[in-house]
Order: sequence, then C-alpha cells, then structure tokens
Amino acid sequence: GNKPGTARSGGGTQPRKQGKGASEDRLTTLFGAPVGDRENTMTAGPRGPVVMQDPYFLEQMAHFDREVIPERRMHAKGSGAFGTFTVTHDITQYTKAKIFSEVGKQTEMFARFSTVAGERGAADAERDIRGFALKFYTEEGNWDLVGNNTPVFFFRDPKLFASLNHVVKRDPKTNMHNAESNWDFWTLLPEALHQVTILMTDRGIPKGFRNMHGFGSHTYSMVNADNERVWVKFHFRTEQGIENLTAEEAEEVIAKDRESSQRDLFNAIEDGNFPKWKMYIQVMTEEQAKNHYHNPFDLTKVWYKDEYPLIPVGEFELNRNPENYFAEVEQAAFAPTNIVPGIGFSPDKMLQGRLFSYGDTQRYRLGVNHHQIPVNSPKGATGVCPFSRDGAMRVDGNLGSHTNYYPNSYGQYEDDPSVKQPPLEMDGLIYEHDFREDDDHYYEQPGKLFNLQSDEMKQRIFTNTASEMSGVSDKVKHRHIRNCYKADPAYGEGVAKAMGINIEDVDMDSNE
Ligand code: HEM
Repeated sequence: GNKPGTARSGGGTQPRKQGKGASEDRLTTLFGAPVGDRENTMTAGPRGPVVMQDPYFLEQMAHFDREVIPERRMHAKGSGAFGTFTVTHDITQYTKAKIFSEVGKQTEMFARFSTVAGERGAADAERDIRGFALKFYTEEGNWDLVGNNTPVFFFRDPKLFASLNHVVKRDPKTNMHNAESNWDFWTLLPEALHQVTILMTDRGIPKGFRNMHGFGSHTYSMVNADNERVWVKFHFRTEQGIENLTAEEAEEVIAKDRESSQRDLFNAIEDGNFPKWKMYIQVMTEEQAKNHYHNPFDLTKVWYKDEYPLIPVGEFELNRNPENYFAEVEQAAFAPTNIVPGIGFSPDKMLQGRLFSYGDTQRYRLGVNHHQIPVNSPKGATGVCPFSRDGAMRVDGNLGSHTNYYPNSYGQYEDDPSVKQPPLEMDGLIYEHDFREDDDHYYEQPGKLFNLQSDEMKQRIFTNTASEMSGVSDKVKHRHIRNCYKADPAYGEGVAKAMGINIEDVDMDSNE
C-alpha cells in the first residue's frame, strides 16, 4: 500500500528520494497535510490547464507572493550576531540598572550592524555611516542602544530626518543617487559639517563591522539607587583595531564582493574568532550640564574626553551567528524607547523624535505584536503586560483569562513606583525654539577634528570630498568650501584646490 508521502499520484515519474512516512523530512503543507506531489501541478490532462484543486500549489504561490516585508526605511542592509556582555568595572555609583549590578555579571545580547542609505541588496563597502545597534536581554527587560559608528549626527532637529532620508536615497525622477540634492541639503546645515568631515575621512568606509567603534551618540541618563541622575554618553571601542578602506580599495572590494562586511563578521564568528568591544561611559553631572559651554544635549557635538574622561564599564563579545537571517536579523526590531530602570533619556530633541519613530515604523514593518518574535522578546524578564491585548498575529496565548482592564477590584497588576525616573526640572516657553539661536558654534568641533588628522588624512579628506561632490553645482561647492574654511582656512583651501576651484573666487561673506 501507499504510505503518505512515498508514492506519486498519477503514476508518472518515480520519486527521486524515497520518503520516510511521518518523519521530519516528510513534506507537508503549512497545515500539516502530507504532500502527494511536490513537483507536478495538477492539470486536466497531460497537456491541459491547471485546476484549482491543488492546495500545495496554491499555498506555494500565495505564500511566496508575500515573502517580502518592507525593508527598514534607513539601515536596510545589515548583519547581526548574538553575544555576551560582561561587566568589568563597578559603575553602581551612577546606575542601578541590574545589567551593571556586579563585576563579572554576564548578559545575553544581540547586535546588528548596518549601512544607512543602501537598500537591502546594497554593497557593504560604501562610504556611509554604519549603524551599531545593541540589544541586551536584561532581567528587567530589553535595553536597546541604537547607535552608530560616529559620535555625532548631521543635525539637531528630528523634523529634518525624513529629508535626510530622501537626499541620501534615490532621486524621485531618475531613481538614481543625486549628489546635488545630497550636498545641497548638507551644506545648508552648517551643523552637519562635523558628521560630514568624519564621513570624508577613512572612517567613512570601515573595512568591516569588526573594525569600527560604536557610539550611543545621544546624551542619555543614568539613575542610581538613591535616585540621583547623571547625563551619560556611551562608547564601544573595537578590540580588533580600527581598519578602513580608501576610496580606491573600496571600489575594488565592491567590484568583487558586495557582502564584504557580512562575510567578514560571519566568517570570523564561524571560525571562533569572536570580535569584542570594550564599553565606556562619559559622565556629566546635572550641575555640570547647567554650566556646560555648549548645549549638552546637542547631537552634533562631542564631549571632549579630557573634560569628561572615558570610564570603563565592560566588554561584549559576539560569539554566535544567527541560524536564520530573516527570522533573527531581518525581523529584529531595536527601539530607543526600550530602556530599563537605571537608564533614561535626555532632552535631546533628536532622541525625543526617535522615541516616536522606531516603534511606529516597526508596528508597520513587522506588526503590532513584533515583541513576540523571539529575537525581540524580553527573555530573562518576568512579569505580565495584560492591558495590551489582541492585534494581528497574536500567538503567545494572548495572556488567556488575565484581567484586561485597570482599575479593577482585584488589585491587578502591581506597578513599581521605585522605577520611575526622578523628576527633571524644566522651565521655558512652549514654542518652536530655534536651536541656532541657542548655539551657533557649528565650526569649532569640525575644525578641531580636521586639525587632529595627519597630513595624509587631510589630503584624503580633500580628494574624497572633491570626488563625492563631482558633478555638483558650483553654488553648492562654494557653500561647502565656505563652511570648511570657517572651520579652518586650510580645510577650505584644501577642498577648493582638490576641486580645481580658486579659493579667491569663493565669496566668504555670501549667504547663498
Ligand atoms: C534605523 C529613524 C536617528 C541609528 C532607523 C529606522 C528608522 C529610523 C525609521 C528603521 C527602523 C526599523 O525599521 O526597525 C530615525 C529618526 C532619527 C534617527 C527619525 C532622528 C530623528 C538616528 C541616530 C542614530 C540612528 C542619531 C544613531 C546614533 C539607527 C540604527 C538603525 C536605525 C543603528 C538600524 C537598527 C537596526 O539594526 O535594526 N532609524 N533615526 N538613527 N537608526 Fe535611526
């Protein structure tokens, strides 16, 4: 007799491999029924049309038609890996976060590195910022630190973010990258010069994800057991050493390998050569922040290390590749709203804007119940969240008969006032305050950064800028030269020369 899955219906070709009946390699439909023929769609007669009554065919087609989900609007191309965070130094004077409770403590984590502008199929070795997103599965919930490989950003107000996306992505008409609009936008924002300068150095093209530092970039806060707050910046320093590609080297890499960063990370972990980063914090007291000479919540500026030294905290190691890219990397969702007691936000407008954007985009990209996807679910944490229920794809039992409203007569469920953030004193008018009126020191930090570079690197900043801006209008080039000149005359002169523009022809007083 025919065992399910062993015989072919219709008596045509012989099975290539003998099935084993109800076992792991028995092919079924998504609803578990054995499949009679995995290859020949049912037709009316050997040369006739397809009939509807072939469920496996319908299912294959329909499921395949829906296999693609929206890619991330930014940072679409990326690589992920699991790992372990270990505390090496005591910082409990700053934070009560359980992840930092004792030296030697280990916490499971997941990291995703990415480029920003490219789509899911883009080449890795492009000149671009790199994303540096970390998810720590702590016993008090997931802490996501969604950072970059640069300590600063292009601007200071989240209202401009959608436009940044539009200028680094494709032109609405040509569907190609448009250097003119990209540089028009950047040069009209003098506060972008700091980030643009970093991007034009060799650090604009890291050799791979293992060879770059990571930064939380924003100012965050920490709260200790006495409920005292300090302002904090997070740093992750690669133990593999910084390594970059020059523009020429990157062209060669891309010609042969579009997955150079993914390959490097994946193979290193597969070979047991686990990459590591050391974690540090910079700390500013609330009192220091009040007297800081810049806005301490300005994402276009760093805090200098000689004023706010790096304090060692711990180390993380990536030691396990995902088993399935789609399940664990594509469906990963990092959100700056995911904080834990002892870690908090700051008034940084950009951070505040992100607090809305990530959860919002993920409810669209992955659905309202994306917290159930294993890579996103808070392993290790205890407690229930029964006042958010239902929604598409609820698959965790939906908390059964747990009380789903509050207040109720049963005292369910307990909140914990001890985890509330300490109150933050604020004053001022509700208004669209112009950041530029508060702080117009756009050029000081890019100027200092430029001056820290070797002569060779300065030269490469000039040639990289000239090459990235080739084809851009003179008006925009002049504007950029002007911005660079204000940071340091030698910066402006070098960029002008590399572009073949006589610096005398650039009107330094123009507002164009
Ligand atoms: C991804 C928005 C600034 C780092 C994303 C995504 C959005 C977004 C919508 C896609 C998220 C997803 O689909 O899961 C914004 C907005 C910003 C902002 C509105 C400012 C107002 C920043 C900054 C950083 C950053 C300042 C770093 C310091 C990242 C990273 C990812 C990402 C690393 C990829 C996360 C992953 O690997 O899944 N951003 N972003 N973004 N963003 Fe931002």
